Amino acid sequence: MNLMSASHDHQEALLRTCWIKMKIDTSLSMPQLPEALSHAGLHFTVATEEDFDDIMAMSQGIYGGLDYLPTRYSSWLQETNRIVILARKHGKVIALESVVVIDGGETVLVEGLRVAPQERGKGVAGVLLRFCSELVKSRFPEVKVTRLTRDDQLGPKDYQKYRIITKQGILLVRFRAEELKQRLSELGVGEVHSSVIDSSQEAAPLRLDDTTIQRLYLSTDLMHPVLPNATIIQDWQPFKLLSSNMAILLKKDIDWMVDDLANPCVASLCTFPFRVPVGDDWFYLNIDMFGKEESLVRQQFLGHLQKHTSTLKGHVMCQMFLEPQLWETMADFCQHTLGVELVKEYTEQCVVEADMV
Ligand SMILES: CC(C)(COP(=O)(O)OP(=O)(O)OC[C@H]1O[C@@H](n2cnc3c(N)ncnc32)[C@H](O)[C@@H]1OP(=O)(O)O)[C@@H](O)C(=O)NCCC(=O)NCCS
Repeated sequence: MNLMSASHDHQEALLRTCWIKMKIDTSLSMPQLPEALSHAGLHFTVATEEDFDDIMAMSQGIYGGLDYLPTRYSSWLQETNRIVILARKHGKVIALESVVVIDGGETVLVEGLRVAPQERGKGVAGVLLRFCSELVKSRFPEVKVTRLTRDDQLGPKDYQKYRIITKQGILLVRFRAEELKQRLSELGVGEVHSSVIDSSQEAAPLRLDDTTIQRLYLSTDLMHPVLPNATIIQDWQPFKLLSSNMAILLKKDIDWMVDDLANPCVASLCTFPFRVPVGDDWFYLNIDMFGKEESLVRQQFLGHLQKHTSTLKGHVMCQMFLEPQLWETMADFCQHTLGVELVKEYTEQCVVEADMV
């Protein structure tokens, strides 16, 4: 059957059939195949465990060696609201994109996009994005917007396509865990207290437990002015302040801190360190920092470094996302007080969204 000539309702029905079929043989059909693509001979499948090596083979060097996919891939395949799609050419994997539904079903988050180096610049990413968008419309009709987080320079076409939700500066530093541990002890950086165990340490940042996180972030408006556009961004994933999102976040290994429970000015989420492909014994430490008060930002940054480097051995790439205006002073603090190496100059993390059409 020619899918291009099918009526809209018929196409929807076909897509639903495709979805059921996909569950069985993992093969997908394109409902509205753009002409360029129909000539390119691309074929779409749902990713499986067996595809891991092929995906890694086309991912070398991406995100500057900080690719999170190797550690996340297996768990991504288990998530019920997520689809990981592969584009194949002559059977060979040449691109990947993942879509996951968040915000209580309202938003689809696009992640992991990559195209094999030899296939870039030919429109493959654009086609894969459109394919996934059609698939989401069929599989999750309640989704209203698509969101993604980028760290590349947005062009005029992107500004036409997307609304900017928020921007954070990216501060990337590297160090050896053992050396930083030594430096922190010279500086007298100690343990950060838990909000439950010790609430008397008013000047020190507080590490939060699940109940306190829920209460602070969901039952009050206190976090709205602290968070950029009332959005929690955790390790590149932007979440609205909703209980369904909190359930997702609380399942992850994250260290939550805030300066003050009654009047928060700075809050942070540190994702537990994980290995990255940049080299053997390299870990990635991701800290999402919200708020503008520099001394409080510094305190929480040190608290996360102290906790998470104490058990690590080897090299660490530490990426902190923070208010753009704090980048310069924090970069200076990292280099001159902590003695760690700045990996790159100022770049931005940009959360963008577009309506599903
Ligand atoms: C970024 C990358 C996926 C682009 O692939 P490509 O096939 O060369 O891109 P195309 O030729 O299709 O060109 C641009 C299309 O992709 C989209 N695109 C480009 N970079 C994008 C990005 N970082 N995030 C989302 N979409 C992007 C453009 O908006 C455009 O869409 P359009 O066709 O609707 O206008 C590819 O260069 C790559 O794999 N880079 C390494 C991994 C990476 O940086 N991924 C970005 C994740 S934030």
